[in-house]
Amino acid sequence: MMKGVHFLVTLALLALATSLASAYDPSPLQDFCVATNDANSAVFVNGKFCMDPAVVTANDFFFPGLNVAGNTGNKVGFNVTLVDVNKLPGLNTLGISLARLDFAPYGLNPPHTHPRATEILVVVEGTLYVGFVTSNPNKLFTKVLNKGDVFVFPIGLIHFQFNIGQTNALAFAGLSSQNPGVITIANAVFGSTPPINPDVLIKAFQLDKNVVDYLQKQF
Ligand SMILES: *[C@@H]1O[C@H](CO)[C@@H](O)[C@H](O)[C@H]1NC(C)=O
Repeated sequence: MMKGVHFLVTLALLALATSLASAYDPSPLQDFCVATNDANSAVFVNGKFCMDPAVVTANDFFFPGLNVAGNTGNKVGFNVTLVDVNKLPGLNTLGISLARLDFAPYGLNPPHTHPRATEILVVVEGTLYVGFVTSNPNKLFTKVLNKGDVFVFPIGLIHFQFNIGQTNALAFAGLSSQNPGVITIANAVFGSTPPINPDVLIKAFQLDKNVVDYLQKQF
């Protein structure tokens, strides 16, 4: 009898939840979570353990040093300093993180996606040409941002930021996950380990074999 009541209540709550909420898949906190029946190994379901509140201190909610620029002396002239749950343990389960983005003149944050986060960005110095592409149809939305301008990149969509100025650019971004993840398109496609079979890339990108070989060497 009790069980039956429970079941009905659960059903009613479920019906309510589905009618109120817009449909959404569960939000994973890691790239994958392989199922197991072994209770002893089933510990990573929420990404991290929780610390005993009695021993938590203010430092668990603190990260210093976001005033320091990342080194942009690389091929793309860009560096990101991400403060996620791995650097700031207090972020665990809170669904938020923060990034500092440094751009050399004409530096580029190449096309990439965050599988678990929407990103809201504010330009602090310089001028950025930013954009994202929607899922089918692949429509491009772009904007030139100056100091103080804010732009949002919806979760999962491929986006980029390009410094079109002759000076350094600086931006900060909030991300709606403690562990947003990043897939940089060129690196993931041409630089995975182990590499994707070149025949796949030749056909997918309609390229000659030597171009695919060249690209696989770059990433
Ligand atoms: C970004 O900057 C940090 C700090 O200067 C440096 O350790 C790191 O190697 C840089 N990353 C890239 C990809 O250049």
